[in-house]
Amino acid sequence: MSEVLRTERRDGVTILTLHRPDKRNALNLEMVQALAGALVPLAGDPELRAVILTGAGGNFAAGADIAELRERGSAEALASINGGLFRRIEELPVPVIAALEGFALGGGCELALAADLRIGGASVRIGQPEVGLGILPGAGATHRLPRLIGFGRAKELIFTGCLLEAPEAERIGLLNRVVPEGQALSAALEMAATIAAQGATAIRLAKLALNAQRHDVDVSHTLESVAQALLFEGAEKRERMTAFLERKRR
Ligand code: COA
Repeated sequence: MSEVLRTERRDGVTILTLHRPDKRNALNLEMVQALAGALVPLAGDPELRAVILTGAGGNFAAGADIAELRERGSAEALASINGGLFRRIEELPVPVIAALEGFALGGGCELALAADLRIGGASVRIGQPEVGLGILPGAGATHRLPRLIGFGRAKELIFTGCLLEAPEAERIGLLNRVVPEGQALSAALEMAATIAAQGATAIRLAKLALNAQRHDVDVSHTLESVAQALLFEGAEKRERMTAFLERKRR
């Protein structure tokens, strides 16, 4: 198990906990790589019903690791390491719930934006303070935030770097709901259990269809995988593949 990422499985729900509490769970390369590694088996896990992202020590994440960011150049920015990871999170086949407490800033806010649902404890302070550091939020906020809360509000958050408290974040739709401080994870587990009680394939296909609304989504890829999924369940595929595999025995 990685030092900076804890993974726990409860029935069909995987909980991924960012674990660098002394650094407010700032997302360093080690954590990003651990998260990327954790996603690989999840993406192909037929028993998986939901994923919860959370942070240790009363905070979600205070952003990308500024000490690492300071040393990165344009090649690393273009490689979009965090952006690529967050996209894979968004494209996980099951609902992803971000359970937030305390700070969810910068890359931490962008990670929460890549989740399908966000539940916040009353202590949440969320925002995109990157411009104060002379950069922009480059891991999804410029497109996910306007989709979620509208262009005007997204521009205000990104241009001013202001942080929102939980009630305001809920009011504008940045948080799905606010719960008492310290209860975000238990509320997320409850929501995951509700989701897990629904039709598993229905949930997966609903997520695919909802994500296909994104203007940047590769609809041809979605169509291809839905079409292939239909064929994989059909009788003809089994008959034809069996005929091939048994051809030498006849
Ligand atoms: N990157 C690297 N280290 C970070 C960090 C980040 N994004 N956020 C916090 N840390 C580190 C601090 O440097 C400090 O390390 P140290 O104990 O070795 O000095 C430790 O985490 C605790 O932070 P501190 O500022 O002392 O805690 P606080 O509770 O007073 O304040 C924050 C918390 C989140 C308000 C403050 O740390 C902060 O503003 N962080 C940066 C937020 C940001 O700009 N994020 C966007 C990055 S793209």
